[in-house]
Amino acid sequence: MDIKVSSGSIIKGNVVCSGAKNAVIPLLCASLLSKGKVMLRNVPRISDVFDICNILRYLDCKVIFKGHTMLIDNTNLKYKPLLIEECKKIRGSYYFIGVFLALFSKCEILLPGGCKIGSRPIDVHLQAFEDLGFKYIIEDDILTIFKTKVNEEASLVLTKKSVGASINTIFAGLRLNHYEIKNGLYEPEGLDVIHFLQKLGYRLTLKDEVIQYEKSKLDFKLIKHTVIPDRMEAMTYAVLGLLKGEVTVKRVNTKDLELPLRILKDAGYQISYTESEIYAKKSYGKEIEIKTDIYPGFPTDLQSIFGVLAINTIGKSRIEETVFEKRMQIYYDLKDSGVDCKITGNKAEITGTNKIHSKNYSACDLRHGAALLLLALVGDEEAIISNFDYVLRGYDDIVNRVKALGGKITIL
Ligand code: UD1
Repeated sequence: MDIKVSSGSIIKGNVVCSGAKNAVIPLLCASLLSKGKVMLRNVPRISDVFDICNILRYLDCKVIFKGHTMLIDNTNLKYKPLLIEECKKIRGSYYFIGVFLALFSKCEILLPGGCKIGSRPIDVHLQAFEDLGFKYIIEDDILTIFKTKVNEEASLVLTKKSVGASINTIFAGLRLNHYEIKNGLYEPEGLDVIHFLQKLGYRLTLKDEVIQYEKSKLDFKLIKHTVIPDRMEAMTYAVLGLLKGEVTVKRVNTKDLELPLRILKDAGYQISYTESEIYAKKSYGKEIEIKTDIYPGFPTDLQSIFGVLAINTIGKSRIEETVFEKRMQIYYDLKDSGVDCKITGNKAEITGTNKIHSKNYSACDLRHGAALLLLALVGDEEAIISNFDYVLRGYDDIVNRVKALGGKITIL
C-alpha cells in the first residue's frame, strides 16, 4: 500500500492509545495455555494481530474480534504443524514454539520472519529450549523441535538479554514441575504476559529478575485481561505533536516511558504529562543524545522516531543504535530530504533545520515507516510513502487517526 502525504497539515487533537503490539502478540499465543475461554480487551486492530488470529483459527480455535475486544475459545485446539505463511510473516509467531512445547512437547514451524532490521536470530530461544530438555533440527527454513528426555526441573541462564526469548522460555517450561530462569528481560509488555499467565493459574514469581515456576492446577474459568497501552504508539503521536502542532495522548502508562519523556523535558520541549496522559506542543529543544539499550534504557523502537524529531533541535543531536544491526535507514532519508545528517555505522549526527525537501520514500520496517510519516508531515512538498503496509503491522488505524488530527493523507 502506498500513501500520499500533502504539505501544510495542521496537527491538533487527542489520540487514545491502543493496546501494545508487543504484549498482545504473546498474549494471543498464550491464550492457548488457558483451560477456559479468554477475553482480551484493548486489542489493537493491526495486521500482526490479524495474522496471529489466522494461526489460532488454523489451530481450530474460535476467535471473535469485535471492536477492540477479542474472545478466544481453544476447546477444539489440536496439534498441527505450523507450516503456514503467517508464521513467516511475523516475528512474534515464535511464541507459538514455546506454547506448543508446553502443550504438546513438540513443534514444527516455518522459521519466524518480521521486520528486516538485522539478522534477528532465535539462538537464545533455541539454547533455552535445549536447556529445558528439547532437541531441534532446522531444515529448509523449517524448525522441528521435540522432547528427548523427561526433565521435571530446570535452572537456566539465558545467554543474552532478549524480550522474546525470556517469554518464550517461560512458556516452554510450563510442563515441568519447577524451573528457574535467570538473565531474563521483562519489559512492561513481558510483565503483562506474566500477569496474564498468573491469572490463568500458573504459579510464576518474578523476584530480582529471576523467574520461578511451580507446577500448578488450572481452573476452567473465563479469563479477562486488558492489554497494556502501547508506549511506542503513544510516543509516536507525542512526537508528532512536538513536530507539527498539538497532540494529547490519552490512556498511556507514562511510567513505562520515563527515559524518553525525561530526555524531551530536559531538552526543553513543550511536553507535560500525568500518569496516563501526555500533552505535546510544537517546540524546539536543545540537542539530544540517545543510545538505544534494553529496558529501562532508550527503546530501539523509538530511535527512528526521535531521529526525525532531531530536526526540531537547536544544534546537533547524536543518536546511536545498539540493539539491531540495520535500523539506520531514516537517517539516509533525512539526508536525502536535505537535512545535514552524518551517518557512521550505527551512529547518526543530525543538525536541526526547518527545511525539509520532501521526497518519495519507501518504508522498510514498521518503525521506519512511522518515522517516514512524521518526516513527510513536516515536509514542504507532497511526499509518497510506499510499502506503508509495514506501519499497519503495529499502528492501529494510523491513517484515519492522523487524518482526524489534521494530517493530509490519501491512500493511493
Ligand atoms: C522484540 C519486539 C520488537 C522490538 C524488540 C526490542 C516482538 C515480537 N518484537 O523483538 O518489536 O523491537 O523486542 O524491544 O515482541 N537476539 C539474538 N538471539 C535471539 C534473540 C535475540 O541474538 O535468540 C538479539 C536480537 O537480534 C537483537 C537483541 O538480541 O539484537 C534483542 O532482541 P529481542 O529482545 O529478542 O527482540 P525481538 O524479540 O527480536
